[in-house]
Amino acid sequence: METAALKNPLSEGLRLERTPEPCTVIIFGASGDLTMRKLIPALFSLAQQNLLPASFAVVGAARSPFSHDEFRDKMKSAIEEFADVGPQDANLVDSFVSGIYYNPSDPGKPDSFQNLDQLLSQIDKDRGTSGNRLFYLSTPPSLYAPICKALGQVQLHDSKGWTRIIIEKPFGRDLDSMRALNKDVLSVFEEDQVYRIDHYLGKETVQNIMVLRFANSIFEPLWSHHYIEHVQITAAESLGVEKRGGYYEQAGALRDMIQNHLFQVFTLVAMEPPVSLASNDVRDEKTKVVKAIRSFSHEEVPHFARRGQYGAGSINGKPVKGYREEDQVDPQSSTDTYAAVKLCVDNWRWAGTPFYLRSAKRMPKRISEIAIQFKRVPHGLFVDTEASSPTEPNRLIVRVQPDEGITVKFRAKLPGQAINIRNVNMDFDYGTSFGKKSPEAYERLLLDAMLGDSTLFARGDMVEASWELLMPVLDVWSEAAGDKFPNYAAGSWGPKESDDWLGSEERQWRRP
Ligand code: BG6
Repeated sequence: METAALKNPLSEGLRLERTPEPCTVIIFGASGDLTMRKLIPALFSLAQQNLLPASFAVVGAARSPFSHDEFRDKMKSAIEEFADVGPQDANLVDSFVSGIYYNPSDPGKPDSFQNLDQLLSQIDKDRGTSGNRLFYLSTPPSLYAPICKALGQVQLHDSKGWTRIIIEKPFGRDLDSMRALNKDVLSVFEEDQVYRIDHYLGKETVQNIMVLRFANSIFEPLWSHHYIEHVQITAAESLGVEKRGGYYEQAGALRDMIQNHLFQVFTLVAMEPPVSLASNDVRDEKTKVVKAIRSFSHEEVPHFARRGQYGAGSINGKPVKGYREEDQVDPQSSTDTYAAVKLCVDNWRWAGTPFYLRSAKRMPKRISEIAIQFKRVPHGLFVDTEASSPTEPNRLIVRVQPDEGITVKFRAKLPGQAINIRNVNMDFDYGTSFGKKSPEAYERLLLDAMLGDSTLFARGDMVEASWELLMPVLDVWSEAAGDKFPNYAAGSWGPKESDDWLGSEERQWRRP
């Protein structure tokens, strides 16, 4: 059971820099890419910033048979390759790596979990980690439920300290599988022990959305259907599926990015002010706004969604192959590499102001942004003014990545005797304003989980509501083969059908 620690909203939400209690982080899927590229480097970076407790250990768990030393060598190489290691860090690398252990673990072999239990007790004795444990499931999703059950069988879900479990996305691949997984996880752990991770919530710019909205007085009065015409949330990537064709074939853009990352961003933009920053107060508001999204039937899907798949094309002048030619991809694949949905939020704040969410691979550039488009002025005083640039609506653009920042786009008079009007920008740029690199999302999220702060993790009810809403799209898309695929060239801004769809609503996709 989770302890009652951190129930004070101020300590929970407005977290000042604190170090967690002594603990052990146990990573399942320890020989995988995520562990080496992100998790271990993030933990090491926390060590560099003195944000880890003095008594701390990491246990790698996977099927492969490594010794402790072999695994330590592997993790040392990962730190050297993927973390920001300076010449002054040599001792720190060695001492960090000396606190790493390995336990061959297979949920099909109960003995291996008994060994894990013994190893963790030994580490508690040797390193003073007090029985506090953070499990991290970074395995293929099919192993999430078996690992939870195996942990439960040896009582590892309940130690003399606190026990928490982080579960990587995807949390289910549709509504039924999400519910089944949730049931399996909750048959072992309590909801407040479960941390469903969505790394977008760890991004500095995403966390800043709440600050932008609720720490300033100038935006909130405009933040509604009275002034906002529509909102576009985009996550575009120039990369293709790289080596993940096998996974991506089962996922597609809607499952991979929209159901989780973009929905999380959407909730932060659209939710009501929470009564406090306590984890459940924030997550209550996020869930409420997802529940306010108008649901649609299978027949209505064409009004609410578009999909696409990239064919051969070029990125930055270099030719790239089409999705169907990628490794581990079916040459007839109907998987979406482009997905866009329209969310109509039926509440007092947003009635009549749609949110469009779009994500795709092989776009011309990597960019994630939120574009809030304001309504036009009620009466055009300057319509007859010559030599003005075409009227662009006012926009507030939150650049999530790269070039993190915020831009306000408005109209201004060009100096001179006549009234010539131009579109201009007012810019805030994280890099120049703060002169400080934003921490990696995984650093913040691992630290929060060690501190017991679940604000930036997805709660089960919201995950369920988002799958529920998207089910008609998934059903319709899986029934109808993508026979018009590929329908956009790599390096373009997506299929014409999607541009036409927005055009039919008298709107246009932004080309950021
Ligand atoms: C992951 C998706 O969750 O997010 C990937 O599975 C995607 O397909 C990645 O590339 C994007 O993350 P980021 O932080 O680079 O925007």
